Amino acid sequence: MVNTWNLYQAETCVVWSRFSSFIEVGGRTGLGYRDTAQDIMSVPHTNPGKVRQRIVELLRAQVGSGYGLHLFEPERFDPNRPATPKFKSPTVVPEPPVEQLIHGLEDTCSDDHLWLVPSVCQYIKETGDFQFFEEIIPFADGGEGTVYEHLKRALDFSAAQVGPTGICKGLRADWNDCLNLGGGESAMVSFLHYWALQAFIEAALFLGRRDDWEKYMALAEKVRQVCEEHLWDGEWYIRGITARGEKIGSKQNEEGKIHLESNALAVLSGAAAPERGRACMDAVDRYLFSEWGLHLLWPAYTKPNDEIGFVTRVYPGIKENGAIFSHPNPWAIIAECRLGRGNRAMRFYDALLPYNQNDRIEIREAEPYSYCQFIMGRDHTAFGRARHPWLTGSAGWMYTAATQWILGVRPSFTGLCIDPCIPEDWPEFHLTRKWRGATYHITVKNPDRIQKGVKVITLNGRPVTGEIPPQAAGGSYEVVAIMG
Ligand code: NOJ
Repeated sequence: MVNTWNLYQAETCVVWSRFSSFIEVGGRTGLGYRDTAQDIMSVPHTNPGKVRQRIVELLRAQVGSGYGLHLFEPERFDPNRPATPKFKSPTVVPEPPVEQLIHGLEDTCSDDHLWLVPSVCQYIKETGDFQFFEEIIPFADGGEGTVYEHLKRALDFSAAQVGPTGICKGLRADWNDCLNLGGGESAMVSFLHYWALQAFIEAALFLGRRDDWEKYMALAEKVRQVCEEHLWDGEWYIRGITARGEKIGSKQNEEGKIHLESNALAVLSGAAAPERGRACMDAVDRYLFSEWGLHLLWPAYTKPNDEIGFVTRVYPGIKENGAIFSHPNPWAIIAECRLGRGNRAMRFYDALLPYNQNDRIEIREAEPYSYCQFIMGRDHTAFGRARHPWLTGSAGWMYTAATQWILGVRPSFTGLCIDPCIPEDWPEFHLTRKWRGATYHITVKNPDRIQKGVKVITLNGRPVTGEIPPQAAGGSYEVVAIMG
């Protein structure tokens, strides 16, 4: 699954984005900003050229104030676009001028631009294309800036768009298209903001931009404090706050008491204090886990409430209203890896794995080699039925969760980090990783049967402290890591 089908699906998503699908047909045209920005994170090692192209397209569709155009046709923002298009549009309606494609805040999603920050950093960590930070790219509404400047604008936009408590506003929607909070606040976006800030701070430090490093460290600390002050509900983090100040995803709610995204991102981002992180992921396991994967929320909404959004009008147990929505499942796997709980990370991984669900194909009703967008949740009579294969953000994220977090091999700006988090009954594993032109044959041994922690690493027999520095391209290197 990891080397073939999962990777193939992840690449497919980058190539097609959500342009072309029998499921979405007619529903949209163009690149989805947030989906593309996430899909590219998973494949910079196998398709760096395509990933770079997509990053540039996304940066050109970012307006100067920092947000991204939610759905856009990349060629409209291409400065090298030929005056006469190669293919004539079949429509008789003339194309609107670019200014009319920018609808302003009303149409803006609160998360789109934030995914770009870790994606760009991930691409550069993989390829070593450090010059890319300095490349000048235009903004969609005029003016231009370096890639580094584009990232700052994304972070600054979210810092400015906060509600009364200091948590990021929900705007038209956040990652959840059906959570339409308007001026209400989104816990998930503040945690995402924190995660993007961490990625940027690491880049600023690497580039020696001390002023930015200090400024964004201070901002991150403020975001963390606001999150801890306003989002903790006793056993888990809430999902948001309505424009009237009502909590969403709280134990006080009758429906939608607990949501997956805010809790997984609280931990994945590093914002959650360790005890709270463990507690909220325990609650995720207790209330959201099933043999088909993790539900998005519980219990499903049955009463329409437009302050929460369209999610409350979706049929219970389907899609955003309490299905096993695949895309945030790997966020929970990564969260468990950050907590060092490899047994549980693997249990979450195994539950969603299409291959494992093939033994129940008469219920699943979908191909065993493709992640599906969602699986009907337990509040639906068809619990376990999977729908919308292929074009789903879960493909790239599951690949990342498996390779970078369970197996734990992650590039940084300066080296290759070996940080596995595995089930305690794994005695050892082997993998081959190509990075910046060199091939690393990696063996991880687990003599004490633990879940996380590496005590010794050797490179061609010589001890290495911390990460493995980049080795000469073209060579093959033996890495042994002993857990303990
Ligand atoms: C599908 C959309 O393509 C994606 O952008 C969104 O995050 C999920 N639905 C959840 O609403």
